[in-house]
Amino acid sequence: MSKVSVIGAGNVGATCANALANMQFASEIVLLDIKEGFAEGKAKDMMQTAKLYRFFTQVKGVTNDYEATANSDVVVITSGIPRKPGMTREELIGTNARIVLNVVDNVLKYSPNAVLVIVSNPMDTMTYLTLKKTGLPKNRVIGMGGILDGSRFTDYLSIALNVPSSDIEGMVIGGHGDTTMIPLARFASYKGIPVSNLLTEDELGKVIANTMVGGATLTKLLGTSAWYAPGAAAAVLVKSIILDEKRAYACCVSLEGEYNQNDICIGVPVTIGKTGWEKIIEFDLNEEEKTLFKKSADSVRSTNNILYESKVL
Ligand code: NAI
Ligand code: 2OP
Repeated sequence: MSKVSVIGAGNVGATCANALANMQFASEIVLLDIKEGFAEGKAKDMMQTAKLYRFFTQVKGVTNDYEATANSDVVVITSGIPRKPGMTREELIGTNARIVLNVVDNVLKYSPNAVLVIVSNPMDTMTYLTLKKTGLPKNRVIGMGGILDGSRFTDYLSIALNVPSSDIEGMVIGGHGDTTMIPLARFASYKGIPVSNLLTEDELGKVIANTMVGGATLTKLLGTSAWYAPGAAAAVLVKSIILDEKRAYACCVSLEGEYNQNDICIGVPVTIGKTGWEKIIEFDLNEEEKTLFKKSADSVRSTNNILYESKVL
């Protein structure tokens, strides 16, 4: 018996709930939104695919009724406004900070032991805010960004190599921002072969550049930010928690000295199991990668500082 709640039934939240239902490991999913009837409608639509996809998971939609989310094992927070073309994730901070704080407060009233997965942008800062405001054990607050960016990285690598994305390993660490993420090309591989042996420096450079603006490229095409890959990325993260899979993913977590950083939540490789993130995997970064990681952390920290300047923290 496992229960997952998804707050925000918009593009990412609904896609995540739909992916979770089809993955067939949770007994119950509650989708919550403030828009009257919105989550109910999406949940009902999903339930009418249960016969077609043959899933047993019960998906229930509610309007701002947190009691329905009680005793969730994991709560995914996607509520907030998304990017519009030309907007950075950081520009969403004021509105989304208010929404995230209110949501987290309500969630914890009914599910005090849940692991929280933060999706709302700017995600690194929203994760930091959640951790600081709630005082929850650090392992129970996980920001989702690196899994998505890693999936975009392998997509662009698959195009460059003309092989399936599923046969490629590639991780993206650092902040979840166009200029802060770090696709770790040196560690990326196709069936164990370093991709640097298979692509020219120029080709690899293009893959990295495309990955970094992967979200912005889609926002420009769609008029709002993406949802299929973000929803799926949040769902695989939830699966690793509920099934205690101990999978390694790049997630935004609190660092206490790891990667030479303190008092920050930022993307690093971690193992994910039933208690949340369990272990930070320390890659042996070279000097160039260390410099990029420090620059990324500085940039995330300056966004976090807005929370202090505006007295949200
Ligand atoms: P959306 O606008 O489609 O959905 C957001 C939903 O949140 C709306 O249905 C809205 O009614 C609801 N909402 C707003 N305030 C609420 C509250 N107080 N309580 C409950 N629900 C509330 O937006 P979308 O595309 O689903 O994006 C959601 C968030 O996720 C955005 O902040 C976006 O930037 C972020 N995002 C993060 C990604 C990541 O990798 N971390 C990837 C994609 C999006
Ligand atoms: C994305 O990467 C905007 O964070 C959102 O698609």
